[in-house]
Amino acid sequence: MRNYYIAGNWKMHKTRAEAAALAQDLTAQLKDGKHQYLVAPTFTALETVGAIIKGSNILLGAQNMASEEQGAHTGEVSVLQLKDLGVQVVILGHSERRHTYKEDDVLINKKVRLALKHGLEVILCVGELLAEREAGKAENICETQTIQGLQGVTAEDVARVTIAYEPVWAIGTGKTATPEDADAIHAYIRGVIARRYGVEAAQKIRIQYGGSVKPENAAQLMAKENIDGALVGGAALKADTFVPIAKFQ
Ligand code: 13P
Repeated sequence: MRNYYIAGNWKMHKTRAEAAALAQDLTAQLKDGKHQYLVAPTFTALETVGAIIKGSNILLGAQNMASEEQGAHTGEVSVLQLKDLGVQVVILGHSERRHTYKEDDVLINKKVRLALKHGLEVILCVGELLAEREAGKAENICETQTIQGLQGVTAEDVARVTIAYEPVWAIGTGKTATPEDADAIHAYIRGVIARRYGVEAAQKIRIQYGGSVKPENAAQLMAKENIDGALVGGAALKADTFVPIAKFQ
């Protein structure tokens, strides 16, 4: 049985003081929450937030990392530095990294393997553009991004991977995929995992949905068989909106 995994991606928001205030609210309000939780603050707030959520039921996530361990890579942050801050999970292949910063599947795969090699868990994001969906290519795009993102990842290591299906046209737009459409893609991705890693691994892997998840639509999405959690952007920036999602009924 997969347990629900609700994650907040704070993107490039919040000073340390603002991040600390939200982390304190969430730690208190999610104490009795039944699911798995994660917050991914911006790099500069990781240490502050990590100190607050330590020992709670909320994991500390980073939003990205470099594809190399260390060296002459101005402006990058390495897996070793993330681990030094207590980071447990890293989000890789987010659509903003893919489309705004031109990260391709080869680079994302390098990051996935490096994170796993160093013992981190990974949330690998996949998802199609609106034009790709309209052209009937949504499944194909998600399959390619999943297979290429996991290239060289062993069956043992895939147990530390969560997939997040985030249709690009639903991110920050207020447009949510219908629970039926999202579930269909999730089922398809689970099939891709089954072909590559076997049915048992496919049954175990958690697939989050991301894209305009709100308190009003969380329960309908989570009710679907193949939707195992959420990767929340805008609504994760306030306890008032994140807590009801995290405690959906
Ligand atoms: P929104 O919830 O703001 O649509 O963002 C989704 C997202 O990109 C989470 O990673």
